[in-house]
Amino acid sequence: MTPSQLILPLFVCPGEGIRREIGSMPGNYQLSIDELVRECAEAHSLGIGGILLFGLPETKDEMASEAYAEDGIVQRAMRALKSETPKLLLISDVCNCEYTSHGHCGKVVDGDVDNDATLQWLACAAVSHARAGADIVAPSDMMDGRVAAIRTALDRNGFQNTPILSYAAKFASVFYGPFREAADSAPQFGDRRSYQMDPANGREAMREIALDLEEGADIIMIKPALAYLDLIWEARQRFDVPLAAYQVSGEFSMIMAAAGHGWIDRERAMMETLTSIRRAGADMIATYFAKPAAQLLS
Ligand code: PBG
Repeated sequence: MTPSQLILPLFVCPGEGIRREIGSMPGNYQLSIDELVRECAEAHSLGIGGILLFGLPETKDEMASEAYAEDGIVQRAMRALKSETPKLLLISDVCNCEYTSHGHCGKVVDGDVDNDATLQWLACAAVSHARAGADIVAPSDMMDGRVAAIRTALDRNGFQNTPILSYAAKFASVFYGPFREAADSAPQFGDRRSYQMDPANGREAMREIALDLEEGADIIMIKPALAYLDLIWEARQRFDVPLAAYQVSGEFSMIMAAAGHGWIDRERAMMETLTSIRRAGADMIATYFAKPAAQLLS
């Protein structure tokens, strides 16, 4: 394992000089753009492969307007990072849940997320991220057909060379809990089980990956990681494409909490879990341990 195989997820918020620690994720912060630039310079100097950026908008609404606004928080942050840390790989998360007043990942019609109506929002968000400087766009919403919709929109707007990292197999997982505090994106009613996957259904994960590849995904991701190592391994055997895994917020918080009590050794738990994800076959790992792991590895 090398630092370049690690991707650091970061949260950008409005304001200046803001560095607000996320209670359930020690060492991780909501950062204003100026602080984000500093954090990214550090990540780059540690040799980390790239960052995955999530945004906390100024305002939320039913239409997730700031998700695809040219001057949205992620778009502004991308422009700043492109000029301040031009060599750092920038991956943008493409989703709506941080931007909708109801916290769902798409347009709500009659109390449920309307898959097809959401595709347009996602395509617009991806294009606006690419225009702002994102090197890779990473849709995490789990709407069907979104990879094709995003690919078409990118190509039409001159971004034929912008790759798509698709959260191809993303499960409806309890381990996203701390993230929803970090990104302020908990659904206000219901849950995400109509669009995220059933943890019991491994075969469907392989079908989802195959579909995303047919639609034009360049890199596929499995998420969460530790509870799904079997699927990382199976995807590695079946699909000859770059494979990513996301060690999600709850996986990080569990280790930090146990280590905080002195019940487990933090560094060893970090390295053992990351190594197991690599061993299962992931080429790259999104992890909140990216900085301490890179420090240890270099
Ligand atoms: C957005 C999104 C989520 C995560 C990444 N993108 C939350 C969710 O689906 O509820 C979770 C990441 C983590 O837990 O670290 N849809």
